[in-house]
Amino acid sequence: MQDKDYQENQENEKEELTGEPGQNPEGEQEKEQDYEKYCFLCRRPESQAGKLITLTDGISVCPECMQKTMDTLQNGNLDFSRMPGISMINLSDLQNMMPRQQKVKKKKPKAEEKQESFDIRSIPAPHKIKASLDEYVISQDYAKKVISVAVYNHYKRVATGTQDEIEIEKSNILMLGPTGSGKTYLVKTLAKLLDVPLAIADATSLTEAGYIGDDIESVISKLLAAADNDVEKAERGIVFIDEIDKIAKKKDTHHRDVSGESVQQGLLKLLEGAEVEVPVGASSKNAMVPLTTVNTRNILFICGGAFPELETVIKERLNQKSSMGFQADLKDKYDKEPNLLAKVTVEDLRNFGMIPEFLGRLPIICTLEPLDREKLVRILKEPKNAILKQYQKLLALDEVQLEFDDDALEAIAGEAMRRDTGARALRAIIEEFMLDIMYEIPKDDNIGRVTITREYIEHRGGPLIAMRGVLKLEQQEL
Ligand SMILES: Nc1ncnc2c1ncn2[C@@H]1O[C@H](COP(=O)(O)OP(=O)(O)O)[C@@H](O)[C@H]1O
Ligand SMILES: [Mg+2]
Repeated sequence: MQDKDYQENQENEKEELTGEPGQNPEGEQEKEQDYEKYCFLCRRPESQAGKLITLTDGISVCPECMQKTMDTLQNGNLDFSRMPGISMINLSDLQNMMPRQQKVKKKKPKAEEKQESFDIRSIPAPHKIKASLDEYVISQDYAKKVISVAVYNHYKRVATGTQDEIEIEKSNILMLGPTGSGKTYLVKTLAKLLDVPLAIADATSLTEAGYIGDDIESVISKLLAAADNDVEKAERGIVFIDEIDKIAKKKDTHHRDVSGESVQQGLLKLLEGAEVEVPVGASSKNAMVPLTTVNTRNILFICGGAFPELETVIKERLNQKSSMGFQADLKDKYDKEPNLLAKVTVEDLRNFGMIPEFLGRLPIICTLEPLDREKLVRILKEPKNAILKQYQKLLALDEVQLEFDDDALEAIAGEAMRRDTGARALRAIIEEFMLDIMYEIPKDDNIGRVTITREYIEHRGGPLIAMRGVLKLEQQEL
């Protein structure tokens, strides 16, 4: 009985061992070769530790560790079986211990690198970048223009390198704009168009190393993950740090300011360009995670925030200016100004609590305007992947036409304005009533067209339904 069990086990093991390579299609194996080997003991990549000695499939050891092991063996005190928690090590169990997400892609050999690196001619000109952004992002023309130029210059700088005497300064961007005006969306669209990796982080979750929370360098870790652990790709990516207004220096704090000023201080080094050691495939450094070095010099940093209280600072300054002299204006002259943020100066930002060194590393400031009702309507229907188009496509698969009255769009935009979260509310509102449509329509195969009306949005009636037969008649009459 025991023997049989033993035999079965043996067979299973054999199957596992021989089965492995067969299961892996060849493409998979090739991919594996794209990743660096790691020393099994010290976890350093081959590029750092020197040529690795392969012991068995998938397990390699660096010369240093090998030497250390030999030394220990010679002294005669290496005994695995006496190590706690280890009874029998089956080397074949270990070979897949390092998950793919923790491996770093090999640096390309020089010749290949040239081919793939950023070619200066391939960077689209600013007007082309803006034209592409226009297809997705509605209005915000000023911001799109500023960003197109900044991005163009940034990648030109990356492409030329900085060996010249005239070093082009890094053009990190500070982006201000109310909630739901498209800050995140703009950056996401940009990264997609340029085909560069993007990491989005929240400034409020960042803390100095040693405190609870993500340390500041974790943003680079995220970027590396977004670049499939390809260091070179990550090094020309984009990092978007949101809610940057939440790390303003507090004026009346008695405690040590953990998440504010010190985070700004901590970001300086990254913004400027530094070599940072980041864990691969994890957000925090610990003993089991391999590390790799990423240079942030060519990474484009965009910091964004809604800066709601900044308006008070701007208003104060403007009022001060206008209340001097004979032409003193009314005190509430700027109270109704819809786009105060656009009048921001670096001085205002400093008064708000951003430290000068931090602002100095974000030389480009752009503001997004609040979206009014007319722009919200355009957002509903104009972008390449507009929400309405998405629903129309979904229903078209059921051979049902979906139409929206202009009145209905106005009503949706109006409701979004009331919620005061910019374009963010649009999707939520539409989802609320589309749920019923998406649920009811497929029940009846005879339905050919659904028209959403203002009455339906305002819960005063139902949508207009047209049957397939009627639609056919209509078409024949035409
Ligand atoms: N200007 C815009 N053009 C098109 N869609 C927009 C625009 N602004 C916002 N949206 C839509 O609203 C959503 C939320 O916007 P988001 O970029 O997250 O706002 P925030 O400024 O708060 O970061 C986006 O996913 C996008 O679908
Ligand atoms: Mg956002």
